[in-house]
Amino acid sequence: MTGGIALTADGIGLRRSGRPILDGIGLAVGAGRAAALTGPSGSGKTTLLTVLAGFQRPDSGAIRYDGVEVTPAERGPWTGRVQLVHQAFGLLSLLTAAENVELALQGLDRARRPRARSLRDAAREALDAVGLAARSDNLVEELSGGEQQRVALARALVTGPDLLLADEPTAQLDPANRERITDLLLGLPAAGVTVVLATHDEELSRRCDPLFALRDGVLEPAQAAAGRGAADL
Ligand SMILES: Nc1ncnc2c1ncn2[C@@H]1O[C@H](COP(=O)(O)OP(=O)(O)O)[C@@H](O)[C@H]1O
Ligand SMILES: [Mg+2]
Repeated sequence: MTGGIALTADGIGLRRSGRPILDGIGLAVGAGRAAALTGPSGSGKTTLLTVLAGFQRPDSGAIRYDGVEVTPAERGPWTGRVQLVHQAFGLLSLLTAAENVELALQGLDRARRPRARSLRDAAREALDAVGLAARSDNLVEELSGGEQQRVALARALVTGPDLLLADEPTAQLDPANRERITDLLLGLPAAGVTVVLATHDEELSRRCDPLFALRDGVLEPAQAAAGRGAADL
């Protein structure tokens, strides 16, 4: 257990089609914290998460993991240690849930793969943790949106990340599974994982610290973000 990766973003700017999508974003998430990124649709949450995950290079500014700058070209060594759960899941629909989760393990360096058990057993264990043990052998296309969301989370967690970024991770879940996944995500810091969640789910965001609020690609002052969270209690 490493205690999680400390994440910083400095002066992040990104333009698309001639207009700013992210502008002067600076934030820090300490190792082993669970941060939330809130804001209306179109405010830039998904774009910022993709930049923070090291998949998209900003036009200006830098992302650092434990003080080390990361860019898409140099992201390789972080594979497995830094995982992004996409809003659109990105699962292969004609493979089973377990096969999708196993693929994440196959993509890892040999040193990071589980040794004591088969990759399939590790995949089943990760699916069990998100309440999907009984659906392991179903094709993804046979699963509901909420079940697919949980498969995507299992696929990210199976690699034992030190930083997990998740885009609207509870958006499609029924109340019982929302509670289960909220508890799972917010329990990760105690297991040495830094967590960053983009979310509209106020029950989730108000339990996160720090809290960042985006509006039109700009971070609102910390006070405003915290005040918004408190007002929702
Ligand atoms: N590749 C792109 N080209 C042009 N505009 C984009 C691109 N990606 C995102 N955007 C725009 O950036 C803004 C922020 O989008 P997004 O990050 O998806 O916001 P959120 O996740 O908060 O809903 C939106 O206005 C979206 O249309
Ligand atoms: Mg989004």
